[in-house]
Amino acid sequence: MSKSNTETGGPRPLFTTRLGVIATTVGSAVGLGNIWRFPYEAGVHGGGAFMMLYIAFIIILGIPLITAEYALGRATHRGIFGVFRALKAHRAWNALGYMGVLSAMLILSFYSVVAGWTLEYFFGAVGGAYTDVSREGLHTVFGEFTSGWRPLMWTVLFLVVNYLIISRGVARGIERISNVLMPLLFALIIIFCVNSLMLPDAAAGLTFLFKPDFSSLTAPVVIGAMGQAFFSLSLGLGCMLTYASYFNERTDIVKSATTTAALDTLIAVLAGVLIFPAVFSFGYSPEAGPKLVFEVLPAIFNEMTGGSVWASLFFFTLFIASLTSTISMCEIVVVFLCEEKKMKRRSACAVTIAVALVLGLLCAMSFGYFTGVELPLIGHPDFFSWFDYGTSNILLPLGGMLTSVFAGRVLDRKVFNRQITGSERPSALSRLIGFSLRYICPALIAVIFIVNL
Ligand code: PFF
Repeated sequence: MSKSNTETGGPRPLFTTRLGVIATTVGSAVGLGNIWRFPYEAGVHGGGAFMMLYIAFIIILGIPLITAEYALGRATHRGIFGVFRALKAHRAWNALGYMGVLSAMLILSFYSVVAGWTLEYFFGAVGGAYTDVSREGLHTVFGEFTSGWRPLMWTVLFLVVNYLIISRGVARGIERISNVLMPLLFALIIIFCVNSLMLPDAAAGLTFLFKPDFSSLTAPVVIGAMGQAFFSLSLGLGCMLTYASYFNERTDIVKSATTTAALDTLIAVLAGVLIFPAVFSFGYSPEAGPKLVFEVLPAIFNEMTGGSVWASLFFFTLFIASLTSTISMCEIVVVFLCEEKKMKRRSACAVTIAVALVLGLLCAMSFGYFTGVELPLIGHPDFFSWFDYGTSNILLPLGGMLTSVFAGRVLDRKVFNRQITGSERPSALSRLIGFSLRYICPALIAVIFIVNL
């Protein structure tokens, strides 16, 4: 990182290398969303058709919207709230800032619970707890674990680790960890995919994942795929915008946006290739929901020689992938508290983590003490599912819609062009992205919302 004076702000630390930019944004994008959420959403929503739609949304909405967030973040070097003040936008746009901060808090809460599960499975694997456990056994293990007290302990521990990293600042914490562990995660996934593909019913799993059955295309599938695209790309809540506020002027925004989207999608698809052959070979139901991956993965590792070593390695890197994502969620809230509420970084981190702790424990208890507790709206789910569904399928797309309107219609075209092309004159590419932000993104998201209602 280096310090730089910016168009609108004072000195701000900036990412120094292209690898730093890619590793941190991919570090935010790649996480439980790819390896835990994508397979279970695809499983619940019929496989192939869901995946095709998900990829279509990444291309049609994802790439223009990441570009928009990058352009806004780098133009102002501010977070999701300060950006509107720096650009002297109408005060009503502050609502988008508040929405981003709220979404970040809610996601951080339920995400930390699942990240805590990865810690349990990591230590379990180190101790050989899942070796030779049958399919039913793995089901029982997960059920007993999530209804007990240990998820609460792991959630607290995970959030404390977040505090320790974010309170030391972006530079030392995020850039270094991401540079090393994201490539390792990628390598491990490839190794496990190869193993999965050698399972007896691998073909059935691949057919499920890749062969779209368009008769299963219903409104919930469409909104689920759109929500998954937003969640997986960390989009619609100002996360990419906040990271782009640390970009220097040399970063090619469109290229970085495309690289982030491509790598993120690749990892999600590979996670599908890893999970579904095993789901079909071991006789699991693809519709198992949030527990899917935690029951299926140990079964895959049991098929491999040295299974518990692979398992420990995998759950550890999954834990790190979660950490690079939660750090980016925390950064949204911390930048808001520092820039808008004038807090010191350390206090801002403490407040963020304290709120996440309270909300996170509510989510962790959804599977035990709070079983049967129903929240109002969106189908009366528990805290965990309410936070999960409400953010991915409602708040993030809504945030994305407003961001596209702001970047496409409110933001001065010259500022927008300068971010994309380096000069105030438009290019074919900046015209295309501008068109997409003005018309396609808002209209498509609005139509999907309306149809779903
Ligand atoms: N994109 C992350 C994942 O797929 O795991 C989740 C995420 C990170 C969502 C950061 C939102 C965010 F701000």
